[in-house]
Amino acid sequence: MESLVGWLGGAYMPVKAAHAVVTFFWIAGLFILPRYLVHQASVPVGSDEDMNWRERTARVRRIILTPSLVVTWILGLAVATSYGLSAAGWIHAKIFLALLLSGYHGWMVGLSKKMARGERPVAERSLRLWNEVPALFTILMVSLAILKPF
Ligand code: HEM
Repeated sequence: MESLVGWLGGAYMPVKAAHAVVTFFWIAGLFILPRYLVHQASVPVGSDEDMNWRERTARVRRIILTPSLVVTWILGLAVATSYGLSAAGWIHAKIFLALLLSGYHGWMVGLSKKMARGERPVAERSLRLWNEVPALFTILMVSLAILKPF
């Protein structure tokens, strides 16, 4: 049914597959960064271990999070405009959730940069709770994409 969908034509399925793969990297990065911050929050500011965590969080941002966020949106919007943005409500709900998740991404990146400057704006316990947010979004967004409930 879906091999030739919209302007992507025969490229629709390969692009959709690439989209699904890259979202795994984005979500993986969104699980790793807050977990690293939980560990960083448990060591003294300025200690050798703190410096190591600053290096690790910088690498996660640079190598995994930022590139996968950008490519997820580019490929996501490519399949969405090819599928037809007005074709179904689930696409609107999914884009809304992706905007919220991108906001969470931005907040976590900002927080990791503050912690790299020696600040501790969020308690370790709260960080553990925030670490669960990407799981909830993954369940909702993958269900929307596959079940297309509305
Ligand atoms: C960033 C904005 C995003 C947009 C605009 C978007 C849009 C879309 C569209 C239009 C499809 C094609 C549906 C089809 O042809 O059946 C799709 C597939 C998919 N998306 Fe996204 N998506 C986005 C982000 C995400 C995220 C963050 C995840 C994971 C948490 C995700 C997971 C998937 C999966 C697993 C599929 C394949 C579904 C299938 O095979 O039927 N997407 N996406």
